[in-house]
Amino acid sequence: MRYTNDHFLKKKKQGEKTAVLTAYDASFAQLMENAGVEIILVGDSLGMVVQGNDSTIPVSIDDMIYHTQCVSHQTQQVLIMADLPFATTYNTELCYHNAARLLAEGGAQMVKIEGGQIMLDTVQFLTQRSIPVCAHLGLLPQSVYRLGGYKVQGKKENDAQQILDDAIAMEAVGADMILLECVPADLAKKITQAVQIPVIGIGAGKDCDAQVLVSYDMLGMSLNGSPSFSHNFLADLAKSDGEISIKSAFEAYVNAVQSGIFPH
Ligand code: KIV
Repeated sequence: MRYTNDHFLKKKKQGEKTAVLTAYDASFAQLMENAGVEIILVGDSLGMVVQGNDSTIPVSIDDMIYHTQCVSHQTQQVLIMADLPFATTYNTELCYHNAARLLAEGGAQMVKIEGGQIMLDTVQFLTQRSIPVCAHLGLLPQSVYRLGGYKVQGKKENDAQQILDDAIAMEAVGADMILLECVPADLAKKITQAVQIPVIGIGAGKDCDAQVLVSYDMLGMSLNGSPSFSHNFLADLAKSDGEISIKSAFEAYVNAVQSGIFPH
């Protein structure tokens, strides 16, 4: 039986941290599950780390379904969250159709949607029709051409307030989780305390309920280097006496997140 939302709500109440990683194929997914990762994100970051594009924009819904299938075939327990890629959410019916495909054909248990206020009605439509949703706020990689790069969001007071308001509004319309990307740590802490649902952080400080990294970044194998908030857990093993393997790097990451050592 796979983990459900209840499991992560209970963990939040008990102050227990959750380790999340991205995966795009069966072998990595199985190693992660065996290492104690509890949520696997089939991220549209695959457009960059697997397909070699310079953004997530070219990823299609068929790409996402294919990679979600690869992850779901060899895992039993992890909750699989799959991204709705660029231009697949621009109206509610289309978004519902694509989200339903990720669950029914891909084997995901939750979809992730980028966007705040503008996506509220759509998120409500999906959650009222039994599709679990994670709302992705802060840095939205699908908006990179408008944002002018992969920059920290919510540094100005107005922007920070908007992200906080969006998180609260997303919870009110039924979102099951929030993912905060590249926002100041104090804002992420405020949001994590303001909502009852689990908050996953990436480049958002240590106080979120869960942490996610792009697996290729934390193994030091991303094509154009890794963001500064990431950490190379495989390289750490080379400096220790322990086994040097990808599974050990995943285990080290899980331990570091659960014990609060990562992020610093
Ligand atoms: O696509 C992805 O991997 C993501 C993470 C950066 C959170 O959305």
